[in-house]
Amino acid sequence: MGLVQWATSPFGDDVPIHVAFYLIWVSAIAGLAFLIGHAIWVRYFAKGEAFAGVTAPSVAARIPERVPRHSLAARLFHWVMAASMLALLITAFLPKVGVEFAWVTYHWIAGIVLTASILFHIVHATFFMDFWSIWPDKADREDAMRRWKRALGQDTPPPRRFAKYPLENKMYHGAIVLAGLSVMLTGVFMMFRVRTGILPRNPYLFGDMTWGMMYVLHGLAGVGLIALIMVHVYFAIRPEKLVITKSMIVGTLDRQHYLEHHDPERWVVANGSSAETRRSMSA
Ligand code: HEM
Repeated sequence: MGLVQWATSPFGDDVPIHVAFYLIWVSAIAGLAFLIGHAIWVRYFAKGEAFAGVTAPSVAARIPERVPRHSLAARLFHWVMAASMLALLITAFLPKVGVEFAWVTYHWIAGIVLTASILFHIVHATFFMDFWSIWPDKADREDAMRRWKRALGQDTPPPRRFAKYPLENKMYHGAIVLAGLSVMLTGVFMMFRVRTGILPRNPYLFGDMTWGMMYVLHGLAGVGLIALIMVHVYFAIRPEKLVITKSMIVGTLDRQHYLEHHDPERWVVANGSSAETRRSMSA
């Protein structure tokens, strides 16, 4: 039982053709196991949150009642991407688990929407948002070590409050970037294999081995996205995270949540609006 399905090419070579589709279940069960494990950990074992230091009252006084977190453009990107991802997962995997329908056309159309939204996001994040806010930094690594030691009951100072994004969010974003770019880049080439009316059909663009690897990478990243998206939705609906999820709808966080969890020096909110959000809102 391998990870890949093989076939024999017209030249007699063994070539990969698809990922093995039992991996759909492996990914779904892994996602489910993670969220059950996490829920048990939080309910019965996790210690309460504790952060180092207190925010000076003079700094706290400058924080507005509603702290801008996501500009309208960023929120629209998120929801367009989410809708297209769900459409891609449904059209790709329902036929594989026995729900037959003509999925390919719906699939590549959703793929174009996802591709356009990702390209928009890359430009937006690079030129109009604080690009580095989503990548782990030295403070994240140090604080992760402190949290890990505290979870093991070792004596260590508490971690600092977060910058705009906690390390977990940054790591999740990294995983989504890898899987998303993989499905996007392979998917665009795979459109040459089907009749789209947009790109000229050309199944001879690559050799059998290259096509096979491309389908396998597309399938592996796609299967990985099942678990990744399950985990994302789980965190979005956890009671203590609803305030974050709400900010992806309304764009702002309440002041109290900001002061409890975020460090005003690491996520600067100035003159009633965060520097980052101001830049992106002027986009
Ligand atoms: C959440 C993201 C995605 C998932 C889960 C996903 C999943 C899949 C799967 C499982 C297949 C079947 C592969 C095989 O038979 O080996 C497939 C095929 C395909 N996908 Fe995706 N995909 C995603 C994104 C995209 C994107 C972004 C595009 C286009 C830009 C795209 C275009 C295609 C095309 C053209 C095919 C080939 C259909 C065929 O040859 O019959 N996909 N996808």
